[in-house]
Amino acid sequence: MSEVTVHPVSAEWADKALIGAEAYAEKYRRSLAEPDAFWAEEAKRLDWIKPFTRVKDTSFNVDDFRIRWFEDGTLNLAANCLDRHLADHGERVAILWEADDPATPGRRITYRELYAQTCRLANALKAQGVKRGDRVTIYLPMVPEAAVAMLACARIGAVHSIVFAGFSPEALGGRIDDCASDVVITADEGRRGGKTIPLKANVDAALEHHAPNVKSVIVLRHTGADVPMVAGRDIDWADAVAGQPGDCPPEEMNAEDPLFILYTSGSTGKPKGVLHTTGGYGVWVSMTHEYTFDYRPGQIYWCAADIGWVTGHSYVVYGPLANGATTLMFEGVPNFPDHSRFWQVVDKYGVEIFYAAPTALRALMREGDDWVTRTDRSTLRLLGSVGEPINPEAWEWYYNVVGGGRCPIVDTWWQTETGGHMITPLPGATALKPGSASTPMFGVQPALVDGEGQLIEGAAEGALVITDSWPGQMRTVYGDDERFFQTYFSTFPGYYFTGDGCRRDEDGYYWITGRIDDVINVSGHRMGTAEIESALVLHDLVAEAAVVGMPHDIKGQGIYAYVTTIAGTEDSDDLRRELIQWVRKEIGPIATPDVVQFAPALPKTRSGKIMRRILRKIAENDTGNLGDTSTLADPGVVDDLLANRPES
Ligand code: PRX
Repeated sequence: MSEVTVHPVSAEWADKALIGAEAYAEKYRRSLAEPDAFWAEEAKRLDWIKPFTRVKDTSFNVDDFRIRWFEDGTLNLAANCLDRHLADHGERVAILWEADDPATPGRRITYRELYAQTCRLANALKAQGVKRGDRVTIYLPMVPEAAVAMLACARIGAVHSIVFAGFSPEALGGRIDDCASDVVITADEGRRGGKTIPLKANVDAALEHHAPNVKSVIVLRHTGADVPMVAGRDIDWADAVAGQPGDCPPEEMNAEDPLFILYTSGSTGKPKGVLHTTGGYGVWVSMTHEYTFDYRPGQIYWCAADIGWVTGHSYVVYGPLANGATTLMFEGVPNFPDHSRFWQVVDKYGVEIFYAAPTALRALMREGDDWVTRTDRSTLRLLGSVGEPINPEAWEWYYNVVGGGRCPIVDTWWQTETGGHMITPLPGATALKPGSASTPMFGVQPALVDGEGQLIEGAAEGALVITDSWPGQMRTVYGDDERFFQTYFSTFPGYYFTGDGCRRDEDGYYWITGRIDDVINVSGHRMGTAEIESALVLHDLVAEAAVVGMPHDIKGQGIYAYVTTIAGTEDSDDLRRELIQWVRKEIGPIATPDVVQFAPALPKTRSGKIMRRILRKIAENDTGNLGDTSTLADPGVVDDLLANRPES
């Protein structure tokens, strides 16, 4: 290991932060020693309709498995994000919106305006027949109406399922089907990096083969493109809300009632509908947003994630709005119209807290410092990183060039399943080590286990598990409790298994080393290798496919696909291109394979199991040491793969 540079907490941060080193140690101790008292106190950050009398009721053991927090309390999370802010700061800006094209005027939506828009849409949804517990699929670009749609669902107790606007009609249709939504909310088109995305056309295509129960499609006019409307099914957002009252009583939800479903990739099968509930999630995202970002009301805060991912749910919408923050939503991309865009937006709005994924930072770093240094950025006081490991080089660049050496970086490790930050520095409490997510959030008990499931202590490397529940934990896989238990609690009985490998150093800092299951992390987005393989084998000429991750300078990991075509097929470059397009069509551009290698056969054991370890080594170009190949049915297969490895 090369020497680690430690950045101690500055005197100013130690002095002014909400949580200093001593407070962290004391609160952390208390959160584990007296969880009921600790969480009852933290839960006061939300307004409850009926206070809870029970706090934590959880067990990860097979016999009495349950995850319940604040279970007899009732509340409404949309009311917590809106109504309670109106009396004292209704005129504060809730959402700042910056369009894809810098020439398009931005928008500033106050809490009062957001409240009225949410209530109108909530009433419109009711008029469409949406009831408490119904699922609503949202397929929208990064526009304030996406937050309005989420909050409108939460207000009436409907469960939203957001599908990232970069997903294909196939992927969208599958997700609508899985949760049996009968309403879809979309826009005519999205805009990103100067290009348009045909959202309404994608919904139409998705509904051709899927989701027979979809009764209405609400269409936001965003670009104004002329899109066909299906009579009796499609309705203009403006028409839907016209005449609807600007007040809508919030539904009284139980703490354990579902808030949303968000599909994410796992190591097997189709994407899982991660289900989050109301009370625990609300407490978790509000608390972590406040402490991790040292958030104080009135500060301008920007999380650059899309609402299609969990980061957008927790840290663009629910966490910041619960805390009365001003949250910036950006429709565009970091490099359009040029590589200064992020920093121009920071200057335009006076952003103080900026939170983004390492992949964007690495891409910008490559373009040179000048794009950054020509901007001011003096308003920045804190930087955040999320979604994948940040390499120390990118960390130092972020710290020194973007942050001018003044701003701590919070490298937040968490997952769709965890709802919010689990392991992260706190800016006033934690000395920073570039590349380490550092220390656990209150109530989080990380541990490392070896291959036999035994806990390992001290400085060590192993599989990362969490030994007890925390309020923001997912409650189930939608419609499949058994899959939930099997996926997360059966590998290491009694623990929540994260799927990540991790090292703990002598100071107790955690260093995430990446996924150790068949999930790859491409530009901070999770992809199941099985999902890409299923897409490939749907092609008529593909007999078999195996997909693994490969190192990629910008994306963190790239997608390397081995494809065996059916006998008699010509394995041409044209076919390679066609297969790449095919996967884009089946899943979406984020799943585009970086390399397709034709393989007459895949390396298998005698029992027919593909040896992915070997495929990974070849993809990584680490071919000197392929390990033990003696169990292969036909070792010659490997020689062929090595001889025909395409240049990547
Ligand atoms: O491998 C870890 C990686 O992203 C996975 C979770 O992906 P997803 O559910 O899509 O959520 C992304 C946004 C929270 C984790 O299992 N990951 C996330 N954050 C970090 C990370 N790896 C290293 N460092 C991080 N800060």
